[in-house]
Amino acid sequence: MTVAIITGASSGIGAEFAKGYKDRVDEVWLVARRVDRMTALGESLGVKYRVIPADLCTDEGIEAIRRALESERPSVRYLVNAAGFGDFGSFDEIDENKVRMMIDLNVKALVLITHMTIPYMERGGRIIQLGSGSCFTPLPYFNTYSSGKVFVLHYTKSLNYEIKKYGLRATCFCPGWVHTEFLGKATAKAGVTRPRDSAMKPLLNCERVVKGCIRASDKGRAMYVTNWYTKLQHLLFKILPDPILTRLWLGMLEKGEENGK
Ligand SMILES: NC(=O)c1ccc[n+]([C@@H]2O[C@H](COP(=O)([O-])OP(=O)(O)OC[C@H]3O[C@@H](n4cnc5c(N)ncnc54)[C@H](OP(=O)(O)O)[C@@H]3O)[C@@H](O)[C@H]2O)c1
Repeated sequence: MTVAIITGASSGIGAEFAKGYKDRVDEVWLVARRVDRMTALGESLGVKYRVIPADLCTDEGIEAIRRALESERPSVRYLVNAAGFGDFGSFDEIDENKVRMMIDLNVKALVLITHMTIPYMERGGRIIQLGSGSCFTPLPYFNTYSSGKVFVLHYTKSLNYEIKKYGLRATCFCPGWVHTEFLGKATAKAGVTRPRDSAMKPLLNCERVVKGCIRASDKGRAMYVTNWYTKLQHLLFKILPDPILTRLWLGMLEKGEENGK
C-alpha cells in the first residue's frame, strides 16, 4: 500500500498537499488536531484516507504516527511536514509556552517524524519540509519562528544529500506570505510588534504555490522558493549585508503600542 503522510492537514498548505498527492497513492494519511476538518477533507478527496489525530507538540502525538507506521508497514511515497505555526513579538512579548511549542512543532516534530518515516520509503519517495521565506536573514520580532525555519532549511538540504543514495529526495519549501490561517494566528495577539498588514500583501495563492512545490519536488530540488517576488527577496538576502536587511525588515513593522498595547 502506498501512502502520502501529510502533517498540518487540517488547513492551508497541508490540506492543499493532500489534494495534490491524492491521485498518486492508495491512501492519504492526514495528521493534525482538528479531526472534523480532516474528516471533511478526507471525504472530499475521493481516495482512501486515514485521520491521525495528534498534537505534535507532544511525544504522544508524534508516537501516534510511529504506531500507524508500525502497524500498517506502508510504502510511504510522500511525507509532507506542514504542521507549524508562528507568533510575532519581541522575546518578552511572546508567552514562553508559545516559544516552546514553536520549537517542539516546527523543529523537533518535523525531525522526528522524518526520521521514523524514511525507513518506510522506497526509491522515488519525496519529503517536503515547510521552511519559509523568513529563513534567509535574521528577523527581530519573529525570532524563534524564523530561526526554527533556518534549522529546517539546513536540515533539509543536508538530509537531501544523505538520502540521495536511496533514491529519495527532500525539498525545503520556502514560500513568502501565503493566504492560509497562518497569519491570522501569528498576529492574533494585540499589542505586540509585528508587520503592518500592508507589508504582508499581496498574499500568495495556496493552491498555486503548492502545485509549484510539487513540481520542484518531483524534479528532486533541495529547495523551492515560490514566486518572482520571493525569489528576488532571496537574491537580495544573499547579496545585501544583514544590517541593511534588518533595517528594511524593521521598516515593515508596527510597534506594539500602535496595535493596541
Ligand atoms: N502561510 C504562510 O504565510 C506561510 C509562509 C511560510 C511558511 N509557512 C509554513 O507553512 C506551514 C503550514 O502553515 P499554513 O500556512 O498552512 O498555516 P495553517 O493554515 O495555520 O495550518 C497549520 C497546520 O498546522 C497544524 N498544527 C498546528 N499546531 C499543531 C499541533 N500542535 N499539532 C499538530 N498539528 C498542528 C494545524 O492543525 P490543527 O490546528 O488542527 O492541529 C494546521 O493544519 C507551517 O509550517 C508554516 O510555518 C506558512
